[in-house]
Amino acid sequence: MSFDLMKSDLVVAVFGAGTMGRGIAQVCAQAGIETLLYDARAGAVDEAIGAVGQGLDGQVAKGRMTADAKAALMNKLKPMAVLEDAKRAGLIIEAIVEDLSVKRDLFSKLEAIVAPDAILATNTSSLSVTEIAAGCSRPERVGGLHFFNPPPVMKLVEVIAGLRSDPSLTDALVALTKRIAKSPIVATDTPGFVVNHAGRAYGPEALRIVAQGIASPREVDELMKEAAGFRMGPFELLDLIGGDVTHAVMESMYGRYYEEPMYQPSAQMATRVAAGLHGRKSGVGFYDYKNADAPSPP
Ligand code: NAI
Repeated sequence: MSFDLMKSDLVVAVFGAGTMGRGIAQVCAQAGIETLLYDARAGAVDEAIGAVGQGLDGQVAKGRMTADAKAALMNKLKPMAVLEDAKRAGLIIEAIVEDLSVKRDLFSKLEAIVAPDAILATNTSSLSVTEIAAGCSRPERVGGLHFFNPPPVMKLVEVIAGLRSDPSLTDALVALTKRIAKSPIVATDTPGFVVNHAGRAYGPEALRIVAQGIASPREVDELMKEAAGFRMGPFELLDLIGGDVTHAVMESMYGRYYEEPMYQPSAQMATRVAAGLHGRKSGVGFYDYKNADAPSPP
């Protein structure tokens, strides 16, 4: 099997127009690749493309991008109304909900639509690429492309092959990652890959500190930034990632490490997710983004 993601007429189809999907689509369009964006929720794609445009207006206003470059990027970014529109895509990147059965269901539908040499890539943070691929009739063309938040800013992308991926898939995904001006690292298909495994303790341990009444989220964030030199505090990061996504990742990692206590999800986070306190995307998380002076919700 040979995959070619370097063709000049490559089309990328991104599924999920939320926090990650819109950013991934922006990055691909910025590299001059025709990029289609799909979301199951009506109106989500228009909102996402509108938000990308607004963000770029800010870049133009600051002189970091020309108006022509913005127009060229927006011209490459197109809404996809129905799944069948993905038939022209040589690369699928899914950034939908962190749920194995939902991701498998999407890929099995897409398999019937896309060309035989198209690659199906997942942006999962914590699920097994191999398990997602196992739901497909041709697991050899499924791999992981794990971007970091926010995709237009973060250079790193983890490239992951599943156990049954074709040997040429990793090289094709690494080449694509460089084509879109990112820095790839090849990771093995283990829970959390490299970055989410190495950084696992940052959020959960901070949640334990708050649950034990040792310090408030704001105090922990200030200490970690000012004293420990981290760019973002753990609660700022949890709000950026999204509480719903973080909780799903914690549950998945805990299950995949056979309930090892250090990976135990946070009961406090589960309650916050139930309350819709998802962070930046819902307007309130550990901080209130609608009213910066409001105290952190308990
Ligand atoms: P999000 O909740 O912001 O966006 C997900 C989008 O997918 C929503 O717009 C939703 O309507 C849509 N969706 C759900 N099911 C769908 C389906 N069956 N077909 C099409 N669209 C569907 O989530 P976010 O944060 O963008 O995460 C997406 C994926 O990226 C997850 O797998 C997550 O683990 C991963 N990820 C998230 C990061 C983060 O910082 N938020 C970082 C790296 C990876």
